[in-house]
Amino acid sequence: MSPQQKALMVPEKQGKLEVGSRNIPNPGTGELLVKVQSVALNPIDYHMVFLKHYPAVPGVDIAGIVEELGEGVENFRKGDRVLAHGAFNNDKAAFQQYTLTVASFTAKIPSNLSFDDAATVPVGLDTAVTSMYGEYPYGAGLTPPWAKSGSNDELKKPIVIIGGSSCVGLYVIQFARLSGFYPIIATASPSNEDLVKSYGATHFFDRHLPGNELKAAISKVTDSSICIVYDAISLQETQSMGWGLLAENGTLILTHDVLVKEDENKGRKAARAFGSPHAPQNQELSRGSWAMVEKWLSEGTIQPNKYEVLPNGLEGITGGLERLKNGQVSGTKLVAHPQET
Ligand SMILES: NC(=O)c1ccc[n+]([C@@H]2O[C@H](COP(=O)([O-])OP(=O)(O)OC[C@H]3O[C@@H](n4cnc5c(N)ncnc54)[C@H](OP(=O)(O)O)[C@@H]3O)[C@@H](O)[C@H]2O)c1
Repeated sequence: MSPQQKALMVPEKQGKLEVGSRNIPNPGTGELLVKVQSVALNPIDYHMVFLKHYPAVPGVDIAGIVEELGEGVENFRKGDRVLAHGAFNNDKAAFQQYTLTVASFTAKIPSNLSFDDAATVPVGLDTAVTSMYGEYPYGAGLTPPWAKSGSNDELKKPIVIIGGSSCVGLYVIQFARLSGFYPIIATASPSNEDLVKSYGATHFFDRHLPGNELKAAISKVTDSSICIVYDAISLQETQSMGWGLLAENGTLILTHDVLVKEDENKGRKAARAFGSPHAPQNQELSRGSWAMVEKWLSEGTIQPNKYEVLPNGLEGITGGLERLKNGQVSGTKLVAHPQET
């Protein structure tokens, strides 16, 4: 019998998560086998929309230790501490003790960060990167700051980030800073004002302000038209608010399906994020950003999210997902330790 591991699995469509056993997979060409030390939870893990084959293992944020290298993997060694963006595929999912990662979307964890810090990075960073720098309709098509040839297209242009304290929002704030946006205006609950400012927001507004009051408040901060609004939450009401703030020819970036009606004449657009680096439209861009991840993290250019560790290994994930679903997590990533199962 092949070596076994513990995994958190959904036995059938709409079934309940339970811990079971499955084979430890073998790495193919360009892949690494990773012993998973820390995983982070994301709303997609309770939506489960991308799970197709049951029993299914969810989870996409991975940090662990390289156990084995597949053919053609050059930049990693056995024993390296790494972070990686998992895929919607049982052998590449996060919520298990061993998983396969794709070398191009794996990076070494610098010594200043823990496995828990690192696990908070992949989904938030990739969602921000692909939706800001990817092409419409998946992104706003901004110039990636790491690929600049002297120009700084967004320098001193304003950006508004609705839901700045969300895990995605905190990466968007940081990339907005790297791109040169100013002012960086973020909304969140007042309890998260210091948090969003510590990640680079220059101005803060209470997310409970009605749209017209937010618009008036923003007009006191900047005379420039708002060409990029990032709605990290993308509910009907936040999309309407973001659409109302947007200038002609501006782009509203959304993390869920587009509910606003794009203009035919004014040219306002709405882009819908698809934050996986594995998606064909994101692969080239994401290979470029993943090549930067270790440097960004070691230099502190990009800061991971704050986190809370859940107890009971893989079993603790179910309760954590319930809290995420009920909106009981604020400005924090929940992480779990599969080896403690
Ligand atoms: N399309 C994609 O590829 C993709 C990828 C990743 C995530 N997503 C989606 O993006 C959304 C954010 O994900 P996440 O992991 O960043 O979530 P998260 O960190 O769990 O979100 C929690 C935060 O949301 C904020 N929030 C809740 N309702 C809000 C509202 N009405 N207005 C403004 N802020 C609000 C809360 O802010 P306060 O506590 O400050 O009030 C809280 O800090 C989720 O819906 C997720 O499904 C999509």
